[in-house]
Amino acid sequence: MSENAKLHYQGKEFELPLIHGTEDEVAIDIRSLRNDSGLIAFDPGLGNTGSCKSKITFIDGEKGVLRYRGIPLEAIESHPNFVEVAWLLIFGSLPTRAEYQRFSRSLTDTANIDEDMKHHFTGFPRSAPPMAELSAMLSTLSCFHPEFLEVEDPCEVEQVAARLISKVRTLAAYAYRRSRGLPYNYPDPSLPYVANFLHMMFSKPYQQYILDDEVMSALNMLLILHADHEQNCSTSTVRMVGSSGANLFASCAAGVSALWGPLHGGANVAVIEMLEAIHKGNMTAEQYVALAKDKDNPVRLMGFGHRVYKNFDPRATMLREVSEKLIKKMGTNDPLLSIARRLEEIALNDSYFIDRQLYPNVDFYSGIILRAIGIPTNMFTVIFAIGRLPGWIAHWYEQKQETGGRIWRPRQVYTGNTRSSYSSRASRGWEEV
Ligand code: ACO
Repeated sequence: MSENAKLHYQGKEFELPLIHGTEDEVAIDIRSLRNDSGLIAFDPGLGNTGSCKSKITFIDGEKGVLRYRGIPLEAIESHPNFVEVAWLLIFGSLPTRAEYQRFSRSLTDTANIDEDMKHHFTGFPRSAPPMAELSAMLSTLSCFHPEFLEVEDPCEVEQVAARLISKVRTLAAYAYRRSRGLPYNYPDPSLPYVANFLHMMFSKPYQQYILDDEVMSALNMLLILHADHEQNCSTSTVRMVGSSGANLFASCAAGVSALWGPLHGGANVAVIEMLEAIHKGNMTAEQYVALAKDKDNPVRLMGFGHRVYKNFDPRATMLREVSEKLIKKMGTNDPLLSIARRLEEIALNDSYFIDRQLYPNVDFYSGIILRAIGIPTNMFTVIFAIGRLPGWIAHWYEQKQETGGRIWRPRQVYTGNTRSSYSSRASRGWEEV
């Protein structure tokens, strides 16, 4: 069926072809619009713009659907393994046993970072924001792996993906160790992905970190649920940088910078800050919810609401269960966790939140889980980055495989001065020299 949209402008009709996705999304193809009509599209924030075609992740915000390569999250939940999910996102299907073993071996073999790279950490002040260190260090990896500045075939992509996914956790743990004045822990080749990260984060020279199944499973699930979310800010940044032909290290480093922002990856930090403010201010959860509902007050209930999910955020539903299990197992008496549960209970039964379709989002529970595990608040966004890395790699690779891909170069509607003349320095009060 060939069907076009029609645009009428200055007495002329322009035909714009439609593009159909596999899940009934329809887009108007405006690629020839400027050539044909002289018009450009205006969409600041790109909220109504399909920037690419993608086969990686599907979201239906109205129905609370999130699928990786067509597989609903709920199906992945019963077989949680972040490494498998990373492979699925990057290469398009779940790994065979042989592929999984090869990829896991590669992750284990490449977990360490070059000794010279460690010295870079001492160049940062101890108080350096770990996201700044992570972005800088991912970019630095390109200096130590010049063989991966150009990657073409799937075999090379597999090798560089393994290095990045493996080393990001080493770099994250080292940023944390440095901030605490603790010695770095080498990766332990006998440990699987998540366990190895926890070991590098928390083992002390005189005290091995005791791995707990519930903690590992919670962190594993948290990473899986953050692994991709289609064209979000950081992923679009990775694609934007990648469109210039930039290598994977540089593109992912840019992704970390985008994720750093409080409107993106920093929201789970805001949740904990809110809980701390309630606790320190001796407020009740009821009082805080009343403030969040007050239109004269800018306060919001952090961790509630979502731009895309208007029914429920499937990731939040899963993380809620994970957080409950974890807290039960750990028997923690953290007062912030009690406040969080009370806020949730009040808001879920309050017509203000029900009428506006405001449900807990993924950040509400991820902050609680990370805090229960003992991850410091300033590392929350770093953990998000570890989880999101496979998604960034998948999008970079998908874009690279496109035929006829072009550098991203949006246009603008210029609203500045029209042609103006150059005024001499003397006329602007400069003394003659
Ligand atoms: N607390 C109180 N009221 C809220 C909240 C909230 N968390 N979120 C939205 N509202 C209210 C608004 O005041 C508005 O009310 P009105 O219609 O009476 O004016 C209505 O709900 C709609 O709000 P919008 O801001 O238009 O909703 P939008 O979809 O643009 O915003 C957002 C979504 C930014 C997530 C918002 O809900 C929010 O600020 N939440 C808190 C911050 C947060 O948790 N961010 C993380 C998002 S998840 C992620 O990024 C991975």
